Amino acid sequence: MIRIGLIGSGKRVGSSDTFLRALLPCCGLMLLALAVSGVEAQTEPAQLTIDPTQIVSPVSPTLYGLMTEEINHSYDGGLYPEMIQNRAFHDTWEGVSPWDLVRRGNAEVRKAVDTTTGPSAALSHSLKLTVVSASNGNEAGLTNPGYWGFEAQPGTTYAGSLYARVEDAAAGSVGPITVQIISNRTGAVLAQTVVELKAGPWARYEYSLKPEGSAAANRASADNHVEFTVAHPGTVWLQLVSLMRPTYHDRPNGLRRDLMERMEAMHPKFLRLPGGNYLEGNSIADWYDWKKTIGPVVDRPGHNSPWFYWSSDGLGLLEFLEWCEDLKVEPVLAIYAGYSLNGSHVATGKDMEPYIESALDEIEYVTGDATTKWGAERAKDGHPAPFPLHYIEVGNEDYLDRSGSYPARYAQFAEALHKRYPQYKLIGTDGNGEYTTRVNPDVSDEHYYKSPQDMMDLVHHYDTVSRTGPKIFVGEWATRSGSPTPNFGDALGDAAWMTGLERNSDLIVMAAYAPLLVNVSPGGMEWPTDLIGFDAAKTYASPSYWAQSLFASHLGDGTAKSSLSGENKRFFYSATVSSAEKVLHLKLVNAGSAAQPLALTLPGIHGMRKAHLTTLHGASYQATNTMAEPDAIHPVESSASVTDGIWKHTVPALTIEVLDVPLQ
Ligand code: AHR
Repeated sequence: MIRIGLIGSGKRVGSSDTFLRALLPCCGLMLLALAVSGVEAQTEPAQLTIDPTQIVSPVSPTLYGLMTEEINHSYDGGLYPEMIQNRAFHDTWEGVSPWDLVRRGNAEVRKAVDTTTGPSAALSHSLKLTVVSASNGNEAGLTNPGYWGFEAQPGTTYAGSLYARVEDAAAGSVGPITVQIISNRTGAVLAQTVVELKAGPWARYEYSLKPEGSAAANRASADNHVEFTVAHPGTVWLQLVSLMRPTYHDRPNGLRRDLMERMEAMHPKFLRLPGGNYLEGNSIADWYDWKKTIGPVVDRPGHNSPWFYWSSDGLGLLEFLEWCEDLKVEPVLAIYAGYSLNGSHVATGKDMEPYIESALDEIEYVTGDATTKWGAERAKDGHPAPFPLHYIEVGNEDYLDRSGSYPARYAQFAEALHKRYPQYKLIGTDGNGEYTTRVNPDVSDEHYYKSPQDMMDLVHHYDTVSRTGPKIFVGEWATRSGSPTPNFGDALGDAAWMTGLERNSDLIVMAAYAPLLVNVSPGGMEWPTDLIGFDAAKTYASPSYWAQSLFASHLGDGTAKSSLSGENKRFFYSATVSSAEKVLHLKLVNAGSAAQPLALTLPGIHGMRKAHLTTLHGASYQATNTMAEPDAIHPVESSASVTDGIWKHTVPALTIEVLDVPLQ
């Protein structure tokens, strides 16, 4: 059997995949353009007949969900709304980047990482600030540029905290710290507060900043930075210097509101967590060791993420689970299965046992009641109620493990998991495309990163895949040519692909686009193409986001019997029915450059039915949404009349439509 080739992989710079990815933005579009060039405007309508009373296959209620990980600066400075970059003074060859000194007037100050003192075992180092001279008007301190700026919305309260150890007053105290958000363009102070420090050992201090309307000259922009200054000579040690945006549902240590609202509007049913490559780490030492991501944030050391930056783990396992709870979705819990991106793997047997123990503990942390060891730990962390769970994924993209170790690793995990938790379905990760997994999971996770043309060529791939093997989880997929976010050509590829997912949803139980988020500030992105763009102040939805939201909000629970003839080669559809609401959802995708006339027949439907039509149209394949033009492409609502089961319609070129027809 032929395996479908992949573009997504854990490979990095220099690999041939990287080269292909670099070509994607132009090649994908060229291929698509070639494919549709010379298409004459069609005059004869395509004939589409749908019998909504005959359901040929079920549609999984959990079909559409979310997959994210710490990539493209998705979490720190993004979904995890920490505004201070490198709040824990993680030290690299670049120093404690991007912190810098403030020296006003004739102030003198030095900074250095002190590895001998910190507020916790996890954060056992700190930044030592030695203020040699400072006074009012000659302040000294630190500045932080944030994650490409700081939002400063008038009237919004930003919650700050920091840990400080202050040298004995007798030896000279630096006095209070003044915290300010300052405009980069004008130097205006947009918000200010003072933190009174007590001389003595490590203590936690809270503060808040509330920009006022008149002061916030840059209200629409995040072109601001923060300064922490003192006006007295002395020494202070700092750690975990934090400033958080308001969170969704006001959860303490929660998630950014506007991004959560974007996800909510996608109607997801699950969240695959914590990755992706983020689960595996670059090396075995960098695996997602969930126990280091729970409890008070001061007890979280953070870890090296595979996407070239340090992760604070402020968004840790509990925050992932609360994210699920807030969006009313279920976690799909991926556990580290002993394989990392540099190709190394843990030997099965004794060496693997600690990882298996960790996975069993993790499941207990998620699902155990408060009488269990790890359920009690979760209760202590603030969430006494267990979380729902049905699926556990063993590893990520293990088809890339050329050593062939996965079947043995999977078997050791599966045996232990089945013994303790027989109720959960296991997802294997060494199959892709045609079903070729060597292990025997309940579900196989398959990934597709494709150009628009390739994605359209795959629309019928699952029509012929065996129904006797495991169910399929398309745990990562995306049509890729736009950067940083998809263009309309990508959205057409995605929509075409989703018609295939829906038609084959008797087999495909879940599917998730990836990556979901990208910080579009220069330097924020590691991987194009990403569904939702954001910066320090705003977010925008890509055309593919709208396509996916439309499909997910008109899912239905069964695919209706149908036939189509006379359509252009780039025309796709899905016909599903919501049986309780008695509504037909007809998705039409015209990815061709000519309009597609259509004659729809619904046998057995009589009289006039007022249908609802939602249209997503792009002026070209390259047309897209950006931070500057966030709504260039967006869904447009209208109505349509279906008379005696007949609808004559023309689907414009480069258009995705969803028609809801009441069946009674
Ligand atoms: O989504 C980006 C990456 O693609 C994921 O981390 C990985 O699983 C895949 O290779």
